[in-house]
Amino acid sequence: SDEPLVLGIETSCDETGVGIVRGHTLLADQIASSVEQHARFGGVVPEVASRAHLEAIVPTMQRALDEAKVTLNDIDAIAVTAGPGLAGALLVGVAAAKGYALAADKPIYGVNHLAAHVAVDTLEHGPLPEPAVAMLVSGGHSSLLLVDDLTAGVTPLGATIDDAAGEAFDKVARLLGLGFPGGPVIDRLAREGDRGAISFPRGLTAPKDFAKHRFDFSFSGLKTAVARWVEARERSGEPVPVADVAASFQDAVCDVLTAKALDACREHGVETLIIGGGVAANSRLRLLAEERAAKFGIRVRVPRPQLCTDNGAMVAALGSHLVAAGVAPSRLDLPADSAMAL
Ligand code: KG4
Ligand code: ZN
Repeated sequence: SDEPLVLGIETSCDETGVGIVRGHTLLADQIASSVEQHARFGGVVPEVASRAHLEAIVPTMQRALDEAKVTLNDIDAIAVTAGPGLAGALLVGVAAAKGYALAADKPIYGVNHLAAHVAVDTLEHGPLPEPAVAMLVSGGHSSLLLVDDLTAGVTPLGATIDDAAGEAFDKVARLLGLGFPGGPVIDRLAREGDRGAISFPRGLTAPKDFAKHRFDFSFSGLKTAVARWVEARERSGEPVPVADVAASFQDAVCDVLTAKALDACREHGVETLIIGGGVAANSRLRLLAEERAAKFGIRVRVPRPQLCTDNGAMVAALGSHLVAAGVAPSRLDLPADSAMAL
């Protein structure tokens, strides 16, 4: 094949990821995670993440090259997440990418992490129909984006004004004593619960929020409402129906996410909704999005869970898109930008 072979490096949070793609074909996707080192803190500790990336980056790189059965010399371009993310964590990936690019004389592309979460869907479903709306929901971000032209970036429509959706899952799991990360546990437990058991608040959906926060999210009030409800139960001496709380909480999150995402699609006359980020693995979110989208003739594209969470393949996918579009590479002195705009 004469399509370019692109390697992607991702170190913006707690996953050290290296992926290799040719065109839209995934050849390697290697990940080393420091999630267990953060578990006892109930969230990612930046200093611990940076150190873990430094230890993992070279072996993960080697495993990816082995998996794709190529050498660094075969690679046509190296893409790396330059932001947004944890500053120290980003620096490890960016410095490593520069080292490899310099050593092997390859072009380097510093890319945006959120745009990469969108681009990864091309590995699962082929070229992106543009325009599309993307909803990215993870432990670090909850955003609605308009994707007109991925090479030029993406346009933010809205974002969380407090906690990210995944953060809400993690905090509620913690207060229910379910461990970290909370999303997968709540997802599993919610299947045994009644999602209509407790009526939890839907943040920023009141008519008064429409003008200013139509496509924004708020999950911190929901988290507080769950905490109050559980405390009241405990005070009353009655057992806490953990599965019902999990199901009702999950439904509140998924209801708001899908309603706003589809509202954004309709407002912008878009027929494709892409969902990505760790929370996109949620079974209720996938089901509700499909059900509601079908009513409006909107197609939902969700990559498989392994590609939804942070990984190197998504960075390679965006890099491949940029190379194919003839976008000029970054300079070798490209900075990492923890607050990178879209
Ligand atoms: O994208 P990701 O791996 O890392 C970043 O935060 O960037 O997302 C991790 C987040 C965590 O908050 C985790 O609880 C959540 O995604 N998550 C889920 C599920 N699987 C992972 N949330 C809800 N349901 C799930 N099945
Ligand atoms: Zn992410």
